[in-house]
Amino acid sequence: MKIGVVGLGHVGLVTALVLAKHGYEVTGISKDKKKSEMLAKGEPTLYEPGIEEMLKENLKMMIFSTDYGRLKDAEAIFIIVPTPTVNERIDLSYIREAMEGITKANKKGVVVIKSTVVPGTAKRFSGEFGRNIVSNPEFTKEGTGLEDTEHPNRIVIGSSDEKSGNLVESIWAFAKSSVVRTTNENAELIKYASNAFLATKISFMNEIANLCERIPGADVEVIAKAMGLDERIAPYFLKAGLGWGGSCFPKDTKAIASFGKELGERMSIIEAAIKVNDDRIGRTIELAKKAYNKNNSLMGVKVGVLGIAFKNNTDDTRDSQAVKLVNRLIEEKAEVGVYDPKAKIDAMDNVKVHKSKENCIKGSDIVIITTEWEEFADTNVLAKGKPIIDTRRIISSGSAKNLYAVGIG
Ligand code: UDX
Repeated sequence: MKIGVVGLGHVGLVTALVLAKHGYEVTGISKDKKKSEMLAKGEPTLYEPGIEEMLKENLKMMIFSTDYGRLKDAEAIFIIVPTPTVNERIDLSYIREAMEGITKANKKGVVVIKSTVVPGTAKRFSGEFGRNIVSNPEFTKEGTGLEDTEHPNRIVIGSSDEKSGNLVESIWAFAKSSVVRTTNENAELIKYASNAFLATKISFMNEIANLCERIPGADVEVIAKAMGLDERIAPYFLKAGLGWGGSCFPKDTKAIASFGKELGERMSIIEAAIKVNDDRIGRTIELAKKAYNKNNSLMGVKVGVLGIAFKNNTDDTRDSQAVKLVNRLIEEKAEVGVYDPKAKIDAMDNVKVHKSKENCIKGSDIVIITTEWEEFADTNVLAKGKPIIDTRRIISSGSAKNLYAVGIG
């Protein structure tokens, strides 16, 4: 079967790769010429464990192009383009552009929206373009995108046309995952509700971490572990830290909160989760001031920031809490040095970019661990007694002098 994938960001690329691995002839379309040329040569456009190898192994099953005309014979076309939040509202212009390109090239294939879109979007575009649209949201995490796409914990298919829904269900049959067949609107909302719930879970634990910091003897990690043993709570997404970033949680929480408001329903829990997340940066600045303990100011203090990616195992810095922290440190007039094993950080002004964690630590008065890369676990050994702020709980507690870790009283 020939399948089209429009949009070759993280989700688009992993979807294309997994489908090619399972025997589909995949045509990936990106309007970014450089991106499609690189992929056509087998060169990965982003970092994630396994992507480079999988691209090389399945290249013969794949075409990468900027030309929508290559989608002419596709039986199903997945739209996986960005849906940014602009001025608190979802911007659907990339979806529209994809619908226009697809419709010019191919009138019969089943169009599937995988991008995250507010409820009602599939119906609206279906009416405008006069064709059925299936909603098939994704639940992949960066860093483990291939595994999450090949073996998702559920497949959600929203459709008003049974035949189109059946086709999409058959495409994913290899995954052997639970399938939820429903309306487009439910499928669209399931994605937002899931992301907002996970983000809220993290913010909840971050608030418990704040409380722990005021109670000598308390440790949020121990509390999270014990809470997670309750099956009703589950052990996932309970890790307190610098807060959530990335291409999904920040934009999706804002989009669903404003969508609710427009419908006259205030999403007060989601709004609170956003506020708690925003406050993580200011709290870390305060902790750094306390740790350095000189005039309650960071002016001229050399601060080494370990990690710029929004989480480990990715080079993605979109909406990264670490980047926000660096910007706040600059406002505080600190001298900032950064290191990240994968993320590209050449675009940051007023920041010294180090090539190794050793150099970053050596050149600092105080070190802040901001991304959960495993290689930062020995920072306490390298820091030789300099204050360390561990916002990701990478260093085992009690093992370092001068360690200030999130969520420890
Ligand atoms: C998320 C969803 O998990 C995924 O289902 C959806 O399809 C896209 O958005 P992603 O943004 O790739 O995936 O990463 P995720 O692992 O969810 O982490 C998001 C942020 O939360 C990161 O900044 C991470 O550091 C933070 N996080 C995660 C925590 O602070 N604590 C946790 O317990 C888990």
